[in-house]
Amino acid sequence: MLLDVTGITNLTSNIWELCLSGPFPYQRVQAGQFINILINQGKDHILRRPISIAEVDTNKKSLTIVFRVVGQGTEWLSQRQVGDQLNIIGPLGTGFQLPAKNSKVVVVGGGIGVPPLYQLVKELKQITNDLTIILGFRNQADCFWVERFAKLGQVLVATNDGSFGTKGFVTDLLDTKANYEYLYSCGPRGMLQALKNHCQGINIQGYVSLEERMACGVGACYGCVCSSADRKLHYRICKEGPVFNWEEVAL
Ligand SMILES: Cc1cc2nc3c(=O)[nH]c(=O)nc-3n(C[C@H](O)[C@H](O)[C@H](O)COP(=O)(O)OP(=O)(O)OC[C@H]3O[C@@H](n4cnc5c(N)ncnc54)[C@H](O)[C@@H]3O)c2cc1C
Ligand code: FES
Repeated sequence: MLLDVTGITNLTSNIWELCLSGPFPYQRVQAGQFINILINQGKDHILRRPISIAEVDTNKKSLTIVFRVVGQGTEWLSQRQVGDQLNIIGPLGTGFQLPAKNSKVVVVGGGIGVPPLYQLVKELKQITNDLTIILGFRNQADCFWVERFAKLGQVLVATNDGSFGTKGFVTDLLDTKANYEYLYSCGPRGMLQALKNHCQGINIQGYVSLEERMACGVGACYGCVCSSADRKLHYRICKEGPVFNWEEVAL
């Protein structure tokens, strides 16, 4: 489907926010799902680029995505202008499973893993008031959307060099004695591993969003698999994921 670019904003030196509107099944979006974007009419890249849905507004009929420029595809995306159109497929994948009502929840995002948690936090707000948001970035210059999240709940920020918030890692801000019942996370694989290790021995349901290079994006090619925790099965990140219960997958 073709969506119109209605806004594009530079958030940090290499991170961009892009707003889209047009015909799209907004009501069907589950937080944690993604869209697959055709780059430059497929001229240079046959494979679409997957980007998570950061926010969906069913009233305004709009979608927001946030991406980091890492190669030609995302560079092209960052050059889009209001009025351009993007050819996208979505919503794709399996998103976050929401918790039981009034649960004690912690949401942990790292770097470019932060945006998909925004839609999740919006939905969590309808379910519980006991919500802590922990965001991790490399340094102050890399921070984005902190104020946006702060409008939805209590936000704790860690930066590696201490230039903003607490010096250290997200694990330094996650109190394992706080009796959280659910943890939702998106970020680099190392951060997800560290979080799981940090929570070992406590009774918490953990859900993580994983990333892998993708080809078809719709479950047909098995180009994006991850292993089950016992390494006996393979799951397609684009179909069974990108969100998994952290007990199910090898991190
Ligand atoms: C389900 C899913 C959701 C995603 N959501 C977002 C998002 O919300 N925002 C965002 O910025 N990015 C997201 N990504 C990553 C994004 O798809 C890639 O950064 C993008 O496809 C790179 O395209 P490119 O043409 O710019 O770079 P390429 O030229 O394809 O690659 C440039 C460099 O980036 C690395 N790279 C490419 N894809 C990935 C990847 N999936 N994971 C790790 N490294 C990669 C390559 O190894 C290479 O070093 C997501 C990926 C998946 C699978
Ligand atoms: S990218 Fe083809 S199965 Fe996931």
